[in-house]
Amino acid sequence: TRPDDHVIVLFGATGDLAKRKLIPGLFHLAQAGLLPDRYRIVGSAPAQSAVSDDDFRKHARDSVATFGLSEPSGPAWQTFEEALSFGAADAEAPEPLLETVRTAEDSLGGRARRLFHLAVPPPAFPSVITMLGHTGLAQDSKVIVEKPFGTDLASARALNETIHAVFDESQVFRIDHFLGKESVDNILALRFANGLFEPIWNRDHITHVQIDVPETIGLEGRARFYEGTGAFRDMIVTHLIQVLGIVAMEPPVTLDAKPLRDEKVKVFEALRPIEPGHVVCGQYEGYRDEPGVAPDSGTETFAALRLEVDNWRWAGVPFYLRSGKNLAQHREVITLGLQEPPLRMFQPHLSEQENERGNKIVIDFGDPGWIAANFLAKKPGPTMDLGLARMIFRYADSFCQAHGLQGYERLILDAMLADQSLFTRSDGIEHIWEASTPFLEDPPPPQPYAPGSWGPEPAINELIAPHHWYLPDDG
Ligand code: BG6
Repeated sequence: TRPDDHVIVLFGATGDLAKRKLIPGLFHLAQAGLLPDRYRIVGSAPAQSAVSDDDFRKHARDSVATFGLSEPSGPAWQTFEEALSFGAADAEAPEPLLETVRTAEDSLGGRARRLFHLAVPPPAFPSVITMLGHTGLAQDSKVIVEKPFGTDLASARALNETIHAVFDESQVFRIDHFLGKESVDNILALRFANGLFEPIWNRDHITHVQIDVPETIGLEGRARFYEGTGAFRDMIVTHLIQVLGIVAMEPPVTLDAKPLRDEKVKVFEALRPIEPGHVVCGQYEGYRDEPGVAPDSGTETFAALRLEVDNWRWAGVPFYLRSGKNLAQHREVITLGLQEPPLRMFQPHLSEQENERGNKIVIDFGDPGWIAANFLAKKPGPTMDLGLARMIFRYADSFCQAHGLQGYERLILDAMLADQSLFTRSDGIEHIWEASTPFLEDPPPPQPYAPGSWGPEPAINELIAPHHWYLPDDG
């Protein structure tokens, strides 16, 4: 289904997120024929960062040329470019935006729907939302709210109140682009469509779960955002715990938004409070010298923690989450360690290393990602020597289309279609902040780590013992 005609308003249109993901993503949607028949994209920013329509088009062209999947040229680009315009908006002076939106709507015959995307720093959310309320723009429209949603329980509640004073919950799309990743969506299929996996997905068969997202990139000029956020809020609360929700949820009755989100929220409700002693924070050496970072900054650029989902399915199974900047590899991997059968009969022939690598389900949720089941097999020969074997699913082996939409693309499309399934819900977010409270009230100071390493020493072994972080080389 193609969405109805839309005017998409991009707040933060000249910012980092719009440049890297949103503008290239919108162009990719246009190329894929998934934008509405008729649409306009209005960029917006405070007056001090205002640009002309022409400069916004040039900015869009640059961003697609640098970060897009294809070149900004040809008839597809021309149509897209013609749909772009810019209107500045300050809380007290929204007139240029109002004017630009009106012009865009008129050009579509006055019956287009409005979708706002708040790609602005979190402190700016309330003033933009309030402005959308008092100008009347909010009426009959939808709003995508970026992350992190609040910085703790109190601020998330306050933000929800601000939003609900202007928008009905059915109009609100809290975005977490990891939930839009093709390979994350596929976890539902893997878990619930397969007799091979479904019966073992519980505490009787799984010893522990790892959700591991190390990054090689550093700050990339985002100091202003990152200093007030840090790895725990930027990645753990936002993305990794959302992925955990999908790994750990009960089967929903249907895949409609309500049952699907109900089940995820129940996981967050069952999270044990996160004790400071279960978290290792790190800061890469040299972070304090980055432009825009305080010389005595206490912001963590790395966080690894142990979480527990205290419910019938998962009681006693530790979930280890890890993410950080400037680490040795960029990966997005979920590993489920499986309970071993008694291996005594194989003991003389089993190296400890192979034993450790077998008995695992590994889900790489990069793009396009892959899934592997690691098991032990007999090495050909006259003796019963065991070696590591793997069954691997790769998209390209099974489907002609190896790449789906990128996370943001899928979610912007869903928002236009008013489908909230893959968006986070206020009660779920509040449960996550609630569980995070003991850690947030008394966070351990970040320990230094060398850029290009695996983070501070206690996170490498101690935190996860007796298990080990598991990152297979590739699919
Ligand atoms: C963003 C974080 O939400 O996700 C970034 O703010 C992080 O710090 C990014 O690098 C990772 O997402 P992806 O999809 O680019 O790997």
